[in-house]
Amino acid sequence: MEVEIVKFDNLGRGIGYLNDKIIFVPKTVPGDIVTVNIKTDQKKYSIGTIKEIVKPSKLRQNAICPYFSKCGGCDLMHISLSNALEYKLEKVNSLLKKIKITEQVKNIIKCEKSINYRNKISLKVFNGEIGFYENNSHNLVPIQKCLICDEKINELIKKLKVLNIKNGEIVIRSNYKHELILIIYSEDELGNYDTLINEYLIIGIIKNDKLIYGDDYFIENVNNYLFKVSYNSFFQVNPFMCSKLFDLVKEYTEYSQNILDLYCGVGTLGIVASNKTKHVLGVEIIPNAIKDANLNKNFNGLKNAEFICADTGEIINKITNSFDTIILDPPRSGVSHEILKQIMNAKIEKIIYISCEPQTLVRDLSIILSDYKISYFTLLDMFVNTEHVESFVVLKHL
Ligand SMILES: C[S@@+](CC[C@H](N)C(=O)[O-])C[C@H]1O[C@@H](n2cnc3c(N)ncnc32)[C@H](O)[C@@H]1O
Repeated sequence: MEVEIVKFDNLGRGIGYLNDKIIFVPKTVPGDIVTVNIKTDQKKYSIGTIKEIVKPSKLRQNAICPYFSKCGGCDLMHISLSNALEYKLEKVNSLLKKIKITEQVKNIIKCEKSINYRNKISLKVFNGEIGFYENNSHNLVPIQKCLICDEKINELIKKLKVLNIKNGEIVIRSNYKHELILIIYSEDELGNYDTLINEYLIIGIIKNDKLIYGDDYFIENVNNYLFKVSYNSFFQVNPFMCSKLFDLVKEYTEYSQNILDLYCGVGTLGIVASNKTKHVLGVEIIPNAIKDANLNKNFNGLKNAEFICADTGEIINKITNSFDTIILDPPRSGVSHEILKQIMNAKIEKIIYISCEPQTLVRDLSIILSDYKISYFTLLDMFVNTEHVESFVVLKHL
């Protein structure tokens, strides 16, 4: 049965109707006419995969990745970069509209690289095959390379089989010098990895959270700020857009005096913001990341920053200093209602909310906007070729 795709949903999937029921079909484009295999059939909706493209949309282009049709990673490689940017703006604007936020985002900052931009890959290993899961399934798609990743990561992927891992997970991270850290989670005994070490710029191997070779961290450099990043600390996956994010943080904290940097990771944003400020306090839950952050302030010659290891939810009502600016850069789940209320009770002049998940950002904005107004809103194309997008919002107290 044929389905005409009428629009994209918030996950970058095409939406059509089959027998009056909504059907989501990943890897389709509005205007496509496709036949489908039904993968999930619920009362109110179905999810299908493309069986055949009967008539391609004018918006469709050939995806340059050989694994595109199966891999669950990139969702938007089959439309042009400018159409993908438009999609991201529309997606955020329609979420804002749904909760009656009248402001519209007009700007999205482009990434200078559409491939080879990612500094991290998480690969699944199943029965000795290494790759990604298919969309919405645990079927493994074996891969030899991932076009959006750093070329040095790709060179290493081809040789990973020497590790002899049958089942588990392998994460590869790279830094500005293309040094590589290999993070392995598996119960299998590792094969001889000497050839990998001799051939590639591997500076550390960690297996099941134990260091087995080299160092368990690397040094990252963005905009001439230096950061120690432990193997399990967060760092933005796109260094090119991370640089643009730093520029924004610097610009919008220029006149801030006391900054609270919640969800601070290895201290990046607080450190970037602390140039002219009196004081920065950063809060982060991962102990390694906080150790990194406290070293990073010294690396960057800062005396006015302090980073503490805590759960934001547990510490927020104990923070008594007065801040004029708060940076919020939470994980995808966003900020809880209780934490937002505590923050709002403190009547902090400016909130800078950075988010990689528009759904939770918009949910949180619907609370914040009772006391604040948006003074700047831009998107950043941090995750090129995927449906994901980073948001940067500056809010001023009413
Ligand atoms: C999106 S990252 C941002 C990190 C940092 N701002 C940066 O740009 O590198 C979110 C961070 O929040 C931390 N995190 C998650 N839940 C937390 C919590 N309840 N309290 C404090 N930090 C948390 C994560 O470990 C992660 O480092």
